Amino acid sequence: MKLRKFYINTIGCQMNVYDSAQMASVLKQKNYQPCDSFLTADLIIVNTCAIREKAEQKVYSFLGRLTPLKKKNPGLKVVVAGCVAQQQGVRITERFPQVDLVLGTHMVHRLPEFLEAIEAAAQPLIETGMTKTIGEPASAIEKQASGHDVSAFVTIMRGCDNYCTYCVVPYVRGREISRRPESILGEIRALVAVGVREITLLGQNVNSYGVKEGMTSFPELLTMVNDIEGLERIRFVTSHPKDLSDDLVSAFGNLEKLCNHIHLPVQSGSDRILKKMNRRYTRSEYLEKIDKLRRVSPDIAITTDFIVGFPGETDADFLDTLTLMETVQYDTAFAFEYSDRHEAPASRFSDKISGPVKNERVQRLFALQKEITRKNRRLLEGKVFSALIEGESRNQLKKSGTSAAVQLAGRTSENRIVNFDFPCHWGIDFDLLKGQTVNVEIVDVLSNSLRGVLTRRQIEYLKSKGGHSHVA
Ligand code: 5AD
Ligand code: SF4
Repeated sequence: MKLRKFYINTIGCQMNVYDSAQMASVLKQKNYQPCDSFLTADLIIVNTCAIREKAEQKVYSFLGRLTPLKKKNPGLKVVVAGCVAQQQGVRITERFPQVDLVLGTHMVHRLPEFLEAIEAAAQPLIETGMTKTIGEPASAIEKQASGHDVSAFVTIMRGCDNYCTYCVVPYVRGREISRRPESILGEIRALVAVGVREITLLGQNVNSYGVKEGMTSFPELLTMVNDIEGLERIRFVTSHPKDLSDDLVSAFGNLEKLCNHIHLPVQSGSDRILKKMNRRYTRSEYLEKIDKLRRVSPDIAITTDFIVGFPGETDADFLDTLTLMETVQYDTAFAFEYSDRHEAPASRFSDKISGPVKNERVQRLFALQKEITRKNRRLLEGKVFSALIEGESRNQLKKSGTSAAVQLAGRTSENRIVNFDFPCHWGIDFDLLKGQTVNVEIVDVLSNSLRGVLTRRQIEYLKSKGGHSHVA
C-alpha cells in the first residue's frame, strides 16, 4: 500500500495541540507519514480555533490557499477539525468545496474510518455529532516516542459547564466530562516510559475535575500523579478562580512535583464587568485566593488572561483592571480585545466598545505588564533555579557554523525559559542532557527569556558523571 503524506496545521490552544498529536498518532498507524509542508501532502488537516474572530479568519485564509492545490492534485484530501468545524459544520463545505471532511470536536478518534469513507464518497462528510463519553486516547505517546519530547500534554477532561457570557467553548466543546483516573495515570506512565519528564494536565476548568461524576477530586488526582515514579514535574491548565479550592492551594505546598506556577485567568478587575461576564467571583475573592497561594508558596509565578473592551466596559472599569494587574504583580499576562462570538450571549449585549478604544486599552495593559515583568525579573538576577533542559535554545537553532559552546534552553518550575551555554570541549552528548534538571544561576534578564550559567557545583557534577546528572 502506498505511503501517504499528511500535514496538520494546528491553530489555537493546548487542547488542539493534544488532539493533533492524537490524529498524527492514528495516522501513523494507518500508513501515513508526516511531512513538513502542506504543499507536498496527500492529506491536509487544519485543526481550528473559534475563540476569537481572528483565529476563525486564520482558518478561512488557510483554506483559501488550498484551492489551487486541490485543482492540481484532485487526490488531495482536506479535513477541517476542531472548534470551527463543530461550530460551522456544513457551512464550511458550502463555502469551501475543496474540503472533504468536517470533523467535530468529539470525533477525533474516529478519523481513520471517516478517511476511508471519503475515499468512496461523492459528497463531503460532515461529522459533528457529540458524545456523552470520552474516547480513549489513540496513543498520545507516539509523538513523544519519536520526537524525544521532554514535556507532554495529557487531557483529563473535556468541555465546559461555566458559560462565561463571552465564550464559545461550551457550545463547541460540549458539556464537561472527566476522564477516569486509571486511564489518565496509564497514559502518564506510558509517557514517562518513553522519556517524558514533565506533564501538563489539560482541561477547560481542571478544578472541577471529577466533581460531576463524584469521582476523585482534582487535588486527589494530583497526588496520584505525584506518586508516579520517573515523572519530575506536573503542571496544569486552566483553573477557574471560583473553583480554586483550599485543597488545591495546599497542593502547592505538599506535592514536590507540582510546579511553582499557576495560570489563573481573571478576565477583568471590575466587579460590574465580572458579573456581566458570569465569572461568579468578585475582585476581592480573586485577590484573596492570590494571597492564599502566596502564603503557601511565596515566590509562586502567577499568570493570567484579560479581556478588554467587554460590552459596557467604562474607563472606570478598565482602571479597575489596571489596578488589579498592579496589585497582583503577574509574572506574565495575556490580554485580548473582546471579540463577538455569535453563540455566546455577550454578542447580544448593548454598549459595544469600538475597535480603537479596545486597541488603546489592550496596549495600555501590555505596557503596564511589560514594566511589571521587567521590574520583577531584575530581582531574579543572582538567584539559582533548577531548569529542565528542553533542548537547544532558539538562538542556537538560528545560528550556523561551529562555536565553542552550544546554547541550551531550560524551563524553571515557574515556567520561565532560561538559556545557558554548554561548552563543547566537555565532549558530552547533548542528547543526554535533554530531559535532565540542572542548577542555573540567572545572570541577565532579556525581554522574553532569562540568561543563566550552570552553577560551579553543577558543572563539576556533570563532568564527573559524563553528562548523566540530576540536580547537584
Ligand atoms: N473575546 C476575546 N477573548 C476571549 N477569550 C475567550 N473568549 C473570548 C472572546 N469572545 C479569552 C479569555 C480566555 C482565553 C483563552 O481567551 O481571556 O481565558
Ligand atoms: Fe470559556 Fe468560561 Fe468555560 Fe473558560 S470557564 S472555557 S472562559 S466558558
